[in-house]
Amino acid sequence: MKLNVEQREFVEELLEKMTLEEKVGQLNLDSPSIVGGFDVPFEELIEMVTDGRMSQEEFGKIMATAERDFHEDDIRAGMVGAIMGNDPVKANELQKIAVEETRLGIPLLMGFDVIHGLRSVYPIAIAEAGSFDDDLMERTAKMAAKESRAYGINWNFAPMLDVARDSRWGRVSEGPGEDPYLASNFARAKIKGLQNNTESTENYVAACTKHYVAYSACEAGRDYNTTSMSTSQLYNVYLPPFKAAMEEGACSAMASFNDLNGVPCTVNSYTLRDILKDKFGLEGFVVSDANGIRECVTHGVAEDDGDAGIKALNAGLDMDMGTRIFYNHIAQAVKDGKILMETLDDAVRRILSVKVWLGLFENPYVSKAVIDEYAKALPKEHKDLCLEAAEKSIVLLKNENGILPLGKERKFTLVGELADRADEVVGAWSLGWEIDDCVSVKQGLEEAGAQFEYYPVCGPESDIDENELRAAIESDSEIVIAVVGEYKSMSGEASSKADITLPGNQQKMLKKLVAAGKQVIAVLMNGRPLALGWEAENLPAIIEGWHLGIQMGNAIAKVMFGECNPSGKLSSTFSSVNGQEPMYYNHPNTGRPGSKSKFTSKYLDAPVEPCFPFGFGLSYTTFEYSNLKVDENGDEISVSVMLKNAGNYDGTEVAQLYMQDVTASLVRPVKELKGYKRVTLKKGESSRIDFTLRKCDMGFYDNQGKYTLEDGLFRIYVGGNSKDVLDTEISVSFRNGEVK
Ligand code: NOJ
Repeated sequence: MKLNVEQREFVEELLEKMTLEEKVGQLNLDSPSIVGGFDVPFEELIEMVTDGRMSQEEFGKIMATAERDFHEDDIRAGMVGAIMGNDPVKANELQKIAVEETRLGIPLLMGFDVIHGLRSVYPIAIAEAGSFDDDLMERTAKMAAKESRAYGINWNFAPMLDVARDSRWGRVSEGPGEDPYLASNFARAKIKGLQNNTESTENYVAACTKHYVAYSACEAGRDYNTTSMSTSQLYNVYLPPFKAAMEEGACSAMASFNDLNGVPCTVNSYTLRDILKDKFGLEGFVVSDANGIRECVTHGVAEDDGDAGIKALNAGLDMDMGTRIFYNHIAQAVKDGKILMETLDDAVRRILSVKVWLGLFENPYVSKAVIDEYAKALPKEHKDLCLEAAEKSIVLLKNENGILPLGKERKFTLVGELADRADEVVGAWSLGWEIDDCVSVKQGLEEAGAQFEYYPVCGPESDIDENELRAAIESDSEIVIAVVGEYKSMSGEASSKADITLPGNQQKMLKKLVAAGKQVIAVLMNGRPLALGWEAENLPAIIEGWHLGIQMGNAIAKVMFGECNPSGKLSSTFSSVNGQEPMYYNHPNTGRPGSKSKFTSKYLDAPVEPCFPFGFGLSYTTFEYSNLKVDENGDEISVSVMLKNAGNYDGTEVAQLYMQDVTASLVRPVKELKGYKRVTLKKGESSRIDFTLRKCDMGFYDNQGKYTLEDGLFRIYVGGNSKDVLDTEISVSFRNGEVK
């Protein structure tokens, strides 16, 4: 986001005209309140969901048809700067009130959670990041932006940039995995896709990077839990994707719920002002997460709402999501001298700047033509892109004796309730999908002309249906495809789990099928890395299908029959058993790295190694790496390797470059991803892959938050995942930090 001189002047002139109350109104993000349309009081409904009398699904259906109050009178009174929603007709009505019926005619920001697509839902972020395809990540964001705008949304609460190392945390599904380098590339691609397509205002939205910051480091992976860490860890692991997003000009950020070293991020002037605004240069604004300001009272760092509001605004939080604390308390606080007018002006200026940059003052509306166009069936380009993203995100975890791909004439039995759940393919935080657009795995296989009988047998929460199990066992096909995993409600917000093995009776079902002599191929549908020790040991093939979005079924069918050769890799490490979490590849070295000997860093009852390492993913062909060479080239290190497609299929490999700073003033990770390339090779073909590692990217942040480059020995690794790599060493001098 960059404003030109006229735009800046426009903002200043507007600011001059505003009353104190009008300024405070801009800081208020409202959401429509639910006012009725159901048989019992709203509070009772919430109780029913909490105590299990009503499922999340039923609750969602009731909410979708509930009557809402969009606070039209408050908008008219200038009390609202932004509102949530995804209905273009309603959005036009509300914008009209803001533009035509308020004194200064300031349009509204219309915010919504478009995390991995709105109607055109593509794979959840943890899956899409595993495509290692930056261009794809940008194109899906572009599609989401355009579609959002057609639904009246001009501000997306995305991308989610939490680097997540603990798979118990439910929100791992929403972010780009465990690696700061991959997450930073994801951040850049998403900001470009959402914000930089500026030929027409109908194409772009303001991004909201979240959750700032270190939300994913919640202790023990329990959502909203406390977070504490060194400055160096904050800078090296959790801040990089936010820094990258700010370099791309991200318009806004959302402060996270957690406290960081005792200071809730909502009132944390060190992270908000010193780092995000002053150091990283955010020109737009920071919004709280829902109810975040009030929760500072519960955290115990503010006495009451007013105190929390004053602390938040003074710390650099500009907009209040959902509590109206700013609206109710800030004007008085300014009069009492507890907030300087220049602090308030700074917040308002930032919000107005985003509105100006979005072109809302020229045209805040969605045209009727666009509304009509999007009310029709999904355009083919959207379906195609969702399919491409789904195909590239699939990770082949195991394929013993080349059991996959299957020939189309090969009969099999399909089991698992999830196989027939078109409503589950979209994953957590998907809010605009339509069931008719969604392709289940069963549908995908049927449409591909597969020969199979289907018995659901069991799902993530059900008992095994013994009759169906018997039928599956008695069927004459030796091969069973089992679609197993998690419901979409089992990951995402407030969905942390202490047990991340296959939920319910699904593993029991697999065991019975294996015991009956079936060749069981698991297709996983899940929102987090699962602990797959038993499955990896006992099943001949495993396809990681995540929640791949509306085209999931078609993508799985294409992989199953070899029309698509899998190329996705894991953006997160998979454990074998629960107790290994948090497990991540780029951990600091210990003095006693885990090994067979007793006094080393390990558990007595779990392997040292993960089940599947970061970056792992098989193909139907095999790739061979050889001839790793490293050269110093001025301010760069050139790395080259030969890659050969040594198998029987054409295929695409994600070649990965890692480094290790062998000796440094702080303990450094055993490996750090520093580059990757998607390379497509015909069978038998070889190619030289070149990477450039800039010396200026080989440093790290110390405990003062200062970036340092330290001369010495570096180990360089290249391979198809973080574990199976070639390696060599090079001594590097940074000329006293003068490298560019
Ligand atoms: C709470 C979630 O933490 C955040 O990710 C989301 O954007 C907001 N609610 C708004 O729905």
